Amino acid sequence: MYLVVGATGPVGLGGEICRQLRAAGQPVRALVRPTANADRLANLGRIGVELIDGDLKNPRSLHEACRGIETVISTASMMVSSQEGDTVENVDGAGQPDLVDAANAAGVVSFVYFSFSKHIDRDFPFRNAKRAVERRLKHSRLAYTILRPTFLMEVWLSPIAGFDFRNSHARIHGRGRNPISWISMYDVARFAVISLGTPLARNATFELGGPEAISPLDTVRIFEELGGRRFQLEFVSEEELTEEQQNAPDSLQRSLAGLSRCYAAGDVIDMTAILRSFPMALTSVRDYARRVLGDDPTLTDRF
Ligand SMILES: NC(=O)c1ccc[n+]([C@@H]2O[C@H](COP(=O)([O-])OP(=O)(O)OC[C@H]3O[C@@H](n4cnc5c(N)ncnc54)[C@H](OP(=O)(O)O)[C@@H]3O)[C@@H](O)[C@H]2O)c1
Repeated sequence: MYLVVGATGPVGLGGEICRQLRAAGQPVRALVRPTANADRLANLGRIGVELIDGDLKNPRSLHEACRGIETVISTASMMVSSQEGDTVENVDGAGQPDLVDAANAAGVVSFVYFSFSKHIDRDFPFRNAKRAVERRLKHSRLAYTILRPTFLMEVWLSPIAGFDFRNSHARIHGRGRNPISWISMYDVARFAVISLGTPLARNATFELGGPEAISPLDTVRIFEELGGRRFQLEFVSEEELTEEQQNAPDSLQRSLAGLSRCYAAGDVIDMTAILRSFPMALTSVRDYARRVLGDDPTLTDRF
């Protein structure tokens, strides 16, 4: 039995993993909160996911959820969709290590943890929390797989991060010229599922990127070409981001500014070697743009 923690978020990585596992006939339990989005909870139930109430801030609930589980898959994070009472410190900072400890104590065999690219390496609370969980996992007796995707298209090329393709407006962090290997959430989910139980993924860390590294300005050009409308661009300079990070009122804002500075610096991931071991087709920014602009019926949301 798999336990997925983080299956109800708006970006949908955990939900997509549940969908792919259920499509393969695998038994899946999801740890969910009563405050989660009702439609997403109903979707999980509909595809046969067993739901168990819990919260990363409540260690006892994690012990309950891990009972009888072979592999824990944790995509949870408070960064995009925090609920009241969630902080970087108590969810990503303390809740995730508590989940590792609960899995350890319950006799879980393996743990798949979603971190992020090694190039996201500035000093800010969210990055420090991610790396601390990685270390906790490596020092546990669990077999670990750490997945480190770079910037997700569904977040950074979407209205969530100010890339408002419907209104042809984009916020660009930095000058927008440094390439990023944007990756689709669907490909990250696919990679996670095909790596499950594979000896190559046992006690392994994978940096994950998409099929090409292109600059934010190049992504805008693709959307302009496919959508047939010029974008209005709003640039946030690296100096402004540094100032934002220094003066941020809380860890969440400090972390968002830190992430944006890493986006400004660019993040190139070469997938050649990984794809030799895990062959799969990767979604390009153009594929993604076709999907979200709605003119490719084969690429509509699958969950
Ligand atoms: N965004 C990127 O570019 C990027 C890049 C690399 C890696 N990642 C990582 O990918 C993972 C998935 O991200 P995502 O954007 O798909 O997330 P998301 O859609 O925002 O989903 C977050 C999930 O975490 C759950 N969660 C948050 N706090 C919780 C708590 N206290 N107890 C239990 N569950 C809690 C949420 O539950 P509720 O629905 O109840 O709130 C939700 O199901 C994250 O670990 C993220 O750091 C993201």
